[in-house]
Amino acid sequence: MELVNLSGMRRAGRSAAATLANAARILRPGLATAAIDRLVRTDTKRRGGRPSQLGYHGFPASVCVSRNHVVCHGIPKDSEILEDGDIVNIDVTTELDGWNGDCSATFFVGRPSPEATHVVDVARRCRDVGIAAVQPGATIGDIAAVIMELAASEGCSIVEEYGGHGIGRKMHQPPSVMYVGERGDGMVLRPGMAITIEPMINLGSSTVRVLDDGWTVVTADGQLSAQFEHTVVVTEEGAVVTTRGPVSAGGTAGRRSGRRRR
Ligand code: MF3
Ligand code: CO
Ligand code: CO
Repeated sequence: MELVNLSGMRRAGRSAAATLANAARILRPGLATAAIDRLVRTDTKRRGGRPSQLGYHGFPASVCVSRNHVVCHGIPKDSEILEDGDIVNIDVTTELDGWNGDCSATFFVGRPSPEATHVVDVARRCRDVGIAAVQPGATIGDIAAVIMELAASEGCSIVEEYGGHGIGRKMHQPPSVMYVGERGDGMVLRPGMAITIEPMINLGSSTVRVLDDGWTVVTADGQLSAQFEHTVVVTEEGAVVTTRGPVSAGGTAGRRSGRRRR
């Protein structure tokens, strides 16, 4: 698989994370999800990047917006209006100077229910234990194992049909990074490889289906699904997350608001 340029990946990742942070700032009840698409398109261009998702296998938008029981690949719409109590995943991928950064987070709109808080919290922690398992010599199965153990211990399930991927000059490239697997299985990680960690975590059953639009993936039981994603480069020292947001990077801590979850 392709070995990446770390500084190129960092620049693309930082851009994607900054756009994601700006998208999060406009969320409120009453907002049409199409407004998130317009912001992502403009903000990405302003940074000199291109939204990698726009036109990808015909995907019609610059960003995926996946609300409540939508697992992933939600298409933003003028007719889809955010409501108090919603959870909404925003997934931003930016190509900048030939490299890609891919990140997402699930945000609360207004006041979340205890169930929503739980699934969002578990999804973030699953992403983070997955990242912590990334190091030279580890396998993709090692990442899956820690994520599975955490999800199971919190009573949540993991979507099996979709997962992470290699990333670099292309948004999606081998290997595929599934989150159901066993320690020691799958590809061995080596310095210079870049992958995404992006488990989709369901409150109910892991079964999903795709809507007639050919993109929108929803839970079969209609229960909530949440997801967080970072792009990670394997180095000799361990994992470097290229898509940390402006807040965690220490730049704009004053803008942190209660509903942001990064
Ligand atoms: N950013 C998404 C991911 O995490 C890519 C979705 S493909 C699209 O892999 F075509 F739906 F945009
Ligand atoms: Co993504
Ligand atoms: Co991805």
